[in-house]
Amino acid sequence: MKRVITYGTFDLLHYGHINILRRAKELGDYLVVVLSTDEFNWNEKQKKCYFTYEQRKMLLEAIRYVDLVVPEENWEQKRTDVHKYDIDTFVMGDDWVGKFDFLKEEGVEVVYLPRTPEISTTQIKKDLNK
Ligand code: CTP
Repeated sequence: MKRVITYGTFDLLHYGHINILRRAKELGDYLVVVLSTDEFNWNEKQKKCYFTYEQRKMLLEAIRYVDLVVPEENWEQKRTDVHKYDIDTFVMGDDWVGKFDFLKEEGVEVVYLPRTPEISTTQIKKDLNK
């Protein structure tokens, strides 16, 4: 069984998120989503989520491509997560290209998938604020 992992905030879930989750799952049989906690988002990314961690987790768990949702609490955990969840492939959108190549040292395949154009949580917030 091939196991895939991906990370993100997934606030105001949108079709760009669904696209990356679908393509991530297609790379294997089991998909782990590591979801940023509210504290991690605020302290490390200065991002305030609209939905709480528990609400974002519930939405992700309802998606057919997602097998497991666990918390992301710091930047360092990726190196240990890939072993803890016995991961073969690490996937992120190509806004992160190159940033996680160090995971290859842990024996994991690292894949950056093209982002879906013209949609992001930030864009949704901006448009609704107009
Ligand atoms: N993603 C994607 N296509 C989009 C938006 C996001 O492929 N149009 C991917 C990101 O590359 C990442 C994952 O979805 O791998 C989660 O991204 P996240 O930052 O939670 O979503 P964004 O919509 O980019 O949110 P923000 O605007 O707050 O950065």
